[in-house]
Amino acid sequence: MGSNQKAENVASNGADAILVTGGAGFIGSNFLLDWLAAGGGPVVNLDKLTYAGNPENLASVAANPAYTFVHGDICDAELVAGLLRKHNPRAVVHFAAESHVDRSILGPEAFLRTNIDGTFTLLRAAREYYDSLAGEGRKRFRFLHVSTDEVYGTLTAQAPAFHEQTPYAPNSPYAASKASSDHLVRAWVHTYGLPAIITNCSNNYGPYQFPEKLIPLMIANALKGKPLPVYGDGQQVRDWLYVVDHCRALRTVLERGRIGETYNVGGGNQRSNLEVVTTVCALLDELVPQSKFKPHLQLVKYVTDRPGHDRRYAIDARKLEGELGWWAQESFETGLRKTVEWYLANAAWVERVTSGAYQQWVTQNYGGRDSGHSGDAVEERTTIAAGEGLR
Ligand code: NAD
Ligand code: DAU
Repeated sequence: MGSNQKAENVASNGADAILVTGGAGFIGSNFLLDWLAAGGGPVVNLDKLTYAGNPENLASVAANPAYTFVHGDICDAELVAGLLRKHNPRAVVHFAAESHVDRSILGPEAFLRTNIDGTFTLLRAAREYYDSLAGEGRKRFRFLHVSTDEVYGTLTAQAPAFHEQTPYAPNSPYAASKASSDHLVRAWVHTYGLPAIITNCSNNYGPYQFPEKLIPLMIANALKGKPLPVYGDGQQVRDWLYVVDHCRALRTVLERGRIGETYNVGGGNQRSNLEVVTTVCALLDELVPQSKFKPHLQLVKYVTDRPGHDRRYAIDARKLEGELGWWAQESFETGLRKTVEWYLANAAWVERVTSGAYQQWVTQNYGGRDSGHSGDAVEERTTIAAGEGLR
């Protein structure tokens, strides 16, 4: 049965449905799986299935009558308006985006199209839909825009963490496109009264993350004995949050967040990239004792830095914690262990998503990078054979 056909069959999910965009990606699929497991109500998932979208992530709910998949583009105004009319959702939860900073540096066009034009298309359709609502349906409706801490730019080592009043200062094309989308959402609240809320979250990790991002890339490469490409000196800091905690935060904000507000979401787990890679390697040494690549840390290879690389992100999530009673439940250590275990148990998933076009990306992003900074922490243990590439 075609995806649109299935949408026809469940045309009326009623006022309890939510429309999710980008639900076949990393965070979206974790959100949908949790949502359906918790009996959250019917969900319509609109996803273009770019390289980052994978219906396999949602195979376990594909036959669930509460789940409807629609293969389509958020830039398609007619499709979006039609879905809102047909499913009469009580909320739109907007994940769909181009999300990888390195890809935005090598090809920003898709980021401007999906992240800016796509958000604009959704907002326009959501406003029209909202204006058609009355009574309880109108009172309940929410537009939840899922955004990132990268809109705030970069922090020095000692600077206080990003809070909701930190001025926007995006540095990459990805961050600029997400900042633009946040501004559009804000304008739709203030000008048209759309009941929207924005969340700005720090780096997520966990199951189903595409192995172009730091943690799954390091796990996948290490298991194959490939070099672990650390950009620059590896001392950049990110504030890591287990994806399930992020999904809980989104559910909380959706149910109890205040209209027109922004909520920062973060786990209070600041780690340098080198610390993250070192911890991943130690977990692999422990969990794959028979590996011929042990100690996996020997695979680290310092490579040319990412242009415009933000030095540090850190999130102050006190507003979300104090106002809505959310806090991260997973520590970085327990979350990372679960994540490594998930990738070990799902090697076939990794194989499937990294075959084909992914290999072209690896060549494009890493092929031109020289050996970079001579990192101090692991240099003595780094024994990459001369001339060995990252492919
Ligand atoms: P992802 O790249 O894994 O998934 C993006 C999803 O959007 C994919 O399923 C893709 O097919 C879909 N998509 C892309 N373009 C589309 C279009 N034009 N129309 C319909 N669907 C489209 O991204 P992710 O890491 O899951 O991030 C989801 C959201 O959360 C993004 O908005 C991102 O900016 C934000 N975010 C991510 C993180 C993180 O650490 N990954 C942190 C904070 C915020
Ligand atoms: O902060 C939230 C953001 O986190 C999200 O909005 C983005 O969608 C998400 O991709 C992520 O952005 P980052 O650029 O921080 O994530 P990434 O996993 O690409 O990189 C994390 C850090 O690791 C960063 O400092 C760059 C570094 N890195 C990354 C890769 C892919 C490496 O050193 N080597 C690599 O090969």
